[in-house]
Amino acid sequence: MKLGRFLLASTLFFIGCSSTPRQADLPVYLNENEPIEERIEDALQRMTLREKIDVIHAQSKFSSAGVERLGIPEVWCTDGPHGIRPEVMWDEWDQAKWTNDSCTAFPALTCLAATWNPEMSARYGMAIGEEARYREKDVLLGPGVNIYRTPMNGRNFEYMGEDPLLASKMVVPYIQNVQKNGVAACVKHFALNNQEIERHGVNVVVDDRALYEIYLPAFKAAVQEGGAWAIMPAYNRYKEQHCCHNQYLLNDILKGEWGFDGVTISDWGGVHDTKQAALHGLDMEFGSWTNGLNWGASNAYDMYHMAVPYMKMIENGELTTKELDDKVRRVLRLIFRTAMNTRKPFGSMNTEAHLQAARDIAGEGIVLLKNEGDVLPVNLDNCKNILVVGENAIKMMTVGGGSSSLKVMKEYTPLEGIINYVGDKANVIYQRGYVGDVTGEYNGVKSGQDLSESRTAEQLIADAVAAAEKADVVIFFGGLNKKEGQDCEGVDRSEYALPYGQNEVIEALAAANKNLAVVNISGNAVAMPWVEKVPSIMQGWFLGSESGNALAQVIFGEVNPSGHLPFTFPVKLEDNSAHSVGEWPGARDVHYTESIFVGYRWADKEQLKALFPFGHGLSYTTFEIGEPTMSKTSLKAGGKITIKCEVRNTGKREGAEVVQLYIGDKESSLPRPVKELKGFQKLHLAAGESGVAEFTITEDELKFFDDKKHEWVAEAGEFTAYIATSAEDVLYTLNFTLK
Ligand code: BGC
Repeated sequence: MKLGRFLLASTLFFIGCSSTPRQADLPVYLNENEPIEERIEDALQRMTLREKIDVIHAQSKFSSAGVERLGIPEVWCTDGPHGIRPEVMWDEWDQAKWTNDSCTAFPALTCLAATWNPEMSARYGMAIGEEARYREKDVLLGPGVNIYRTPMNGRNFEYMGEDPLLASKMVVPYIQNVQKNGVAACVKHFALNNQEIERHGVNVVVDDRALYEIYLPAFKAAVQEGGAWAIMPAYNRYKEQHCCHNQYLLNDILKGEWGFDGVTISDWGGVHDTKQAALHGLDMEFGSWTNGLNWGASNAYDMYHMAVPYMKMIENGELTTKELDDKVRRVLRLIFRTAMNTRKPFGSMNTEAHLQAARDIAGEGIVLLKNEGDVLPVNLDNCKNILVVGENAIKMMTVGGGSSSLKVMKEYTPLEGIINYVGDKANVIYQRGYVGDVTGEYNGVKSGQDLSESRTAEQLIADAVAAAEKADVVIFFGGLNKKEGQDCEGVDRSEYALPYGQNEVIEALAAANKNLAVVNISGNAVAMPWVEKVPSIMQGWFLGSESGNALAQVIFGEVNPSGHLPFTFPVKLEDNSAHSVGEWPGARDVHYTESIFVGYRWADKEQLKALFPFGHGLSYTTFEIGEPTMSKTSLKAGGKITIKCEVRNTGKREGAEVVQLYIGDKESSLPRPVKELKGFQKLHLAAGESGVAEFTITEDELKFFDDKKHEWVAEAGEFTAYIATSAEDVLYTLNFTLK
């Protein structure tokens, strides 16, 4: 048992021995039947200055102290956001070498967002929350909802795409269900952490409209709808202040405008100044380097900005305890909600239900990008020789990528998944095709794979082509991996193109065999110069423990793909607004000159056709979306318009379609996007079955953020509602007015 838990248990035990062990006999702060705010005040007034200081900063890599004397336990955090990170040493990043800390790896959050199904978020949150709870964690460092501004961001795979509404709808059930386990979700990285290059120093220059309309809504939903108990301020700066002590973001917006009552937990090493941290809304400091950003003394937790230096400033009168007490109240609230909550469930780890959840989420998130001809689903009656090509067919992806790296019980690679699925129904042959990253280690966790290869690039292609000529179907697994310069924390991608000469391999395979499917494993869009030559393309994401099994189920048609892209795949990088008019990576400052025109909002404005648009995703069945009906064509303040349309599965098998509602303002006093996502609904339908997609429009869906007035405004006038299956595939437009 950890020290804090032991102290809590023993305090309760002794209190129990000295009188009858009834809640009513407990001091108010220990009595769970008392209102939480009264418990907080009771505990606070019992604490000394030193005890207050001790609970607001780390005491180890991932924990902060409790109050021994009062039996208030420590707080234990864990990454996040795709599984529970293996245990590291008390004060080192090295593995603690536990033998029972292997977890279930869930699909990356890009995949979750691609399900467009909030029920999947709920399952994800519940399952990962159960694993966090079982490992006795109080705070899960995730989910991440930074908006996908550029495909070059190495951490996009940890986030939920480019659209604020999609990210908002998907983040809320994740948080709610994690927290049902008595574990706080710590939503990150607040805010504007849209690149990894210079992440500790870069100062984001963004206008208020983009801030409020694009970059903040998912955080706001996390707080106000999800009820998040913790938020992690980001590394970067905004208005010249580091986000970890940022008056505007933490005090004015998060705690002021949104009424957040939880804790802000600094990103690891994101705090730089005691006074600012004290005054600008930071509640807990973790991971600091005690000498700026490059060096840390061992066990130097007293040297943290919010440790002895803070205490001294209070003692010498430079600061008062006003802000400190607010921080401690928030930390106590967190502890009462989590570590001291005796009514929480026990949790569980690596259960069949968690693996099933991981598989189902992966299966719903995989996106069929293109499907011409008869390649997918692969029919085992006709395909007796299956060739699998590519390093990503055999590479474990749960190890690497930065702090989200995991130690799994088992990860099924795509090749394993295919071999297991096919059994003796066909021959599966493997060819490497290219060599990418043969390493597989993060902080001492080793994938254990030997990916060494001695053939030359030319030989690898020749061998793959020779095998492709004899195969009935060729499935290429490529894309990115979790190495620096690809989908990885701390650095951004080095190129938009596929690395390691994969384009040449794909071109050669396409020439050798017309039955080619390319599965792109990545958390980001990539360029596909061969798009016209490949009949079937699938977006595979980083899918976690069940990766290979989930992919096999979709490839062979047991699961009908229903994922839709949570971000745009531009043809080329210059088609993305940050690269076209904005700045990336920026030097000291990075200017978001593109403002609100992020992702499809930019593509619409510039009339750019995407390689694959936001919201796009195909199925093995077909759907017909009937002419929508609108309850009325004029909306008054306080009123609502309902749009309904019938969706019919016109194919021969079950499947799911995502109907999307976008709205555009025809005339406005400020520039607005052509259209913005305002609703979506995923309908699962049996062959021949019909369902109804229903959307409600109120004044709220029509508002923009007026930066002069600093408020959300809906202007009277004409609007257009678009019923679509992607940002480019609009089926119906309906006009209405706001009176
Ligand atoms: C990352 C966070 C993570 C933390 C703790 C930081 O480097 O930015 O997302 O939660 O480390 O591992």
